[in-house]
Formats: sequence, C-alpha cells, structure tokens
Amino acid sequence: MDIKITKTQHSKLEDIDFDDIPFGKNTSDHMFVMEYADGAWGNFRIIPYQGFVLDPQSKALQYCQCIFEGMKATMGIDGVPKLLRPDLNIERFNLSAERMCMPSVSQDVFLKALKAIIATEIKWIPKAEGSALYLRPTMIATESSLAVTPSDTYTFYIYTSPVQPYFTKPVRLVTEQTLIRAVPGGTGEAKTGGNYAGSLKASELAKQKGFDQIVWLESPEFKKVQEAGMMNLFFVIGDTVLTPKLSGAVLKGTNRTYFIDILKEKNIKVEIRDIYIDEIIAAHEKGELKEAFGSGTAAVVSHISEITHDDTLMVLPNVEEREISNMLFKEINGLRAGTIADKRNWLVPVEVFEEIN
Ligand SMILES: Cc1ncc(COP(=O)(O)O)c(C=O)c1O
Repeated sequence: MDIKITKTQHSKLEDIDFDDIPFGKNTSDHMFVMEYADGAWGNFRIIPYQGFVLDPQSKALQYCQCIFEGMKATMGIDGVPKLLRPDLNIERFNLSAERMCMPSVSQDVFLKALKAIIATEIKWIPKAEGSALYLRPTMIATESSLAVTPSDTYTFYIYTSPVQPYFTKPVRLVTEQTLIRAVPGGTGEAKTGGNYAGSLKASELAKQKGFDQIVWLESPEFKKVQEAGMMNLFFVIGDTVLTPKLSGAVLKGTNRTYFIDILKEKNIKVEIRDIYIDEIIAAHEKGELKEAFGSGTAAVVSHISEITHDDTLMVLPNVEEREISNMLFKEINGLRAGTIADKRNWLVPVEVFEEIN
C-alpha cells in the first residue's frame, strides 16, 4: 500500500496554543484519504486538510450513508506516539459499515492509514498527560443518485484534532421517556451520523430543564437502561459493577471494553446484563448505589452526580469517595501517558522512522 504524501505549504501549527485548545475546534494540517470504486480501495494519499467537492445528490448527504470512529493517539514519555487497542475501533467501524451496507476496510489498511497520518502530524500531538491527538476516521457514500440503494463509490478519510484533557464536572442526568435513540434491530449499534442527529432534540430539551445529559431507556416500556448521551453507563451497587449488556441498540464503547477487562482482571465483580431503572432506584433507597459513571473516549470517565427519573431524584456520593471509577480513570490515563506499565500489551506504537516530508 503506497501512500502518496503532499505536504501543506501553510502549516497552522504556529497558531495553536497547546495550553489552551478548545475541544474539537482545531483540525491539524493534513488528512488521509482513499477512495472505493469497482469493489476496491485505492488512491491512498495524505493531503493538506481541505474540503471535498460533494455532489448535492450524494448518498451521504441525502440518505446519511456515512459512518465514523473516534479514537486518540497519545505521546508516550518515550517520545513514541501510541494508539490504545485500535483493533477495537477498526472492528466497530467495520460493524458499522456492515450495518449501513458500506464496504469494509481491512485491519491492515486501516492501521497503516492511522499510523501514516499520526506520523505526518507528530508535531500536533500534545504532550501533557491526558491530552491527545483525536482521530476521526470517516466513510461517506459519494454516488450521486436518488435511488435508495447502497452507493457504488465511497470516500474514507481520517482527520485529526489536538485535544486537552477533557474534564467535565460531575453530570446531572435525566431519563428520557418519550423520545428514543435506538431500538434493537435499528442502527443504534452503528456509529452513524443519523443516530446523533436523532438524539439532538432530547438533549436540547433536557438542557432546557437544567440537566446535562439523558439516560436513554428502551422503548416501549421505558424501563431498561441503554446508555447516556454519548457514553456507556456503569453503576456500582454494593461491591458489584453493573453495565448494560449490548442489546443491539447500545454502542459497543471501546472504553466500556477496557473497563470490563480491567475489572475482571482485578477480580472485581462485574455483571453485564439488562439493567432496569427501578433496580437502580431501589439500590439508591437502600444506600447501596455507590457510583454511577459514563465511559467514553473524550472524558474516559464522566462521573454522574444525580439521576432524575419521574419524581425520583437520586443523588450520588461525592466523587472523592468513588474507588472504582477513579481507579479506572487512572489506569487508562496512566497507560496512555506511559506512567503505568503496559503489562497487557494494549498500546500499539506508531513507528516514525524519519520526518515525513
Ligand atoms: C452513543 C455513544 N455511546 C458510547 C460511546 C463511548 O464509546 P467509546 O468508549 O468508544 O468512546 C460513544 C462515544 O463514541 C457514543 O457516541
């Protein structure tokens, strides 16, 4: 796989204040691009970050045949950029592709593309612990046709954005009992734009009422817990950690997988099963609900301070008292920064043999 590299004449690097990077606002200088036509990927290249010319009738724009991933590269203390379990993102991307009738991208091509763009943008990787170069692999359907059928042609690209540690203050959640994010058999397990557009209204309504995010419940009963906003959910009840099982309507979060693996390794009881809001309320009433948190690439752990369901308000213990979520946060952050040994071999180094010109 030969990747043709064209470097920008106008780097934006000088304009970035690495001590103050607003999340997701800055894109780096270059992007990886390849195209799919006649049943194969080709035209592998790295080019200056730029817009695409898209036909107004392209299927990505008309029918939302598009998918994406979100992942981070970090700079280890050894000066070598690292990815954390990129195979999980690649596997999820291909599951999304399969659900949306799009072509897959092999592990080999995907990883080479990731490494090539990271190596090109090495100067864009922030060095402070917790910061990262956020990577956004994306695939869009480019065929121009009104027919509601899978596109013949696609563009795959990866662009990057330097990000600071993303600390949120503990979030206040409310259950949603009218609008639905996803149902089993729908597209909730795929990382496709429509799921996000469809969730905006409920989020906006929740914000108007003073909440930060929504707990999605499965329709039509609105009892079974799915996920929260853009993160997977975990609850600590007594000495057991609970997280909803994947029902076909919940995104298979990469951090969810890291956490489950770490918990099992540490012999902490973890139950992956259907979870109902009533049992969370019952546990809270008995004083057994010790922690609730979301997992996701941006924040790693997002502590939950309150959950409201109908007239019931559950207030969670102080963040300082939360042993499990604080431990998981430290493990993942430390691993990425290189301050915790990678005994599980989760990190994938990005070899940068020479400055790519
Ligand atoms: C809907 C949704 N659920 C869960 C997650 C968490 O996934 P991950 O841990 O891979 O970031 C995300 C973030 O990408 C998301 O958008």
